Amino acid sequence: MDKNFLNDFPILRSRMNGHPIAYLDNSATTQKPESVVRSICGYYGGCNANPHRGVYELSVKATKIYEEARRKVADFLNATPQEIIFTKNATESLNLVAYSYGLTNLRGGDEILITIAEHHSNLVPWQRVAKATGAKLNYIYLAADGNLSADDIANKLTQRTKILAVTQISNVLGLVNDIKALAARAHEVGAVIVVDGAQSVPHIPVDVRDLDADFLAFSGHKMLSPMGIGVLYGKRELLEAMPPFLSGGDMIEYVEEQATTYAELPQKFEAGTQNVGGAAGLSAAIDYLRGVGFDTIERIEGDLTTFAVAELKRLPYVELYGCDAPNKIGIVSFNVRDVHPHDVATILDAEGVAIRAGHHCAQPLIKYLGQNATCRASFYFYNTRRDVERLIEAIQKVRGIMHLA
Ligand SMILES: Cc1ncc(COP(=O)(O)O)c(C=O)c1O
Repeated sequence: MDKNFLNDFPILRSRMNGHPIAYLDNSATTQKPESVVRSICGYYGGCNANPHRGVYELSVKATKIYEEARRKVADFLNATPQEIIFTKNATESLNLVAYSYGLTNLRGGDEILITIAEHHSNLVPWQRVAKATGAKLNYIYLAADGNLSADDIANKLTQRTKILAVTQISNVLGLVNDIKALAARAHEVGAVIVVDGAQSVPHIPVDVRDLDADFLAFSGHKMLSPMGIGVLYGKRELLEAMPPFLSGGDMIEYVEEQATTYAELPQKFEAGTQNVGGAAGLSAAIDYLRGVGFDTIERIEGDLTTFAVAELKRLPYVELYGCDAPNKIGIVSFNVRDVHPHDVATILDAEGVAIRAGHHCAQPLIKYLGQNATCRASFYFYNTRRDVERLIEAIQKVRGIMHLA
């Protein structure tokens, strides 16, 4: 019997439009347990000071909290603390790699290979870096089941490819890419692999050494932490060879009038005052997730996904995307025939069901699927089958309300 997680998440016991809330927009952001909220309040209430800069007790405490969070993240990913860069979010982490590694290492004639299923955060920076360097941006498209095309991987990952940038889990289709195999293929041709872990790190165990990922990015807010704290993992030798991304205070060793030497890792990539409260929250979130356990998280999300897909398939007017492959977790994209996804989401909102509708910051993928937008329900371990039933019950009302039934 699973713990009743709702006791730890007061917001999930609140109401939306007069109904108990069924929060199914976890791919956008997750809710925060009380322990995370307490850790942030504890930091601001008891230890707030600028880290690294002061010699007085409060500043030392803030530094300790920040660096302990880094050690915890490193341990969580099986990395070393020097390889963990704190950023604002996955977007900033991916931009850091694109601008620091990409701009430095790409030349005209090189190729960047990404997939059509990327979030704009792992797409737009590569477009810009391709333009700036003369490199070519290539795409891996999808097979019929929504997974990456094996032919495209075989044909497009070549000696010309210098960077393979790929999401571990698609934020639209919920399909899990085999990063270990892709990393091995990328390394065979001499490319580095940049993994967008925004939808994977919160939901499945991620071991960067086992995957042999060169870079991996994620956001704290999608895994119970506050907004404004994110992580970039990078292999030490790669990070050491890269120039800083942002410049200013804290990332320097010596500054002279015309020249600067930079701090060691990880400070070289952490310019300016950092988000210590966010790091405290992320640290508490990792403790909470460890307490739940990824076995439990995967089991609950797997059950909810299977249940939701089966129930949605019973509705003849619902079209599903990427729901026939077994390697799927936590995310279900669909449309209700003849109804715009925004109308669906608005009708569901009136029933207390929170889903996302739109292009999910993945416009090329949505276009590739032949759609303008989709509805997306996304689960976390605190969701229940009752939430899914509420989703289905609300969808069953949609066509009637739109006078289509
Ligand atoms: C796969 C993926 N990558 C990157 C991001 C960007 O995350 P953030 O907005 O926290 O930077 C998201 C957010 O939805 C995502 O789903």
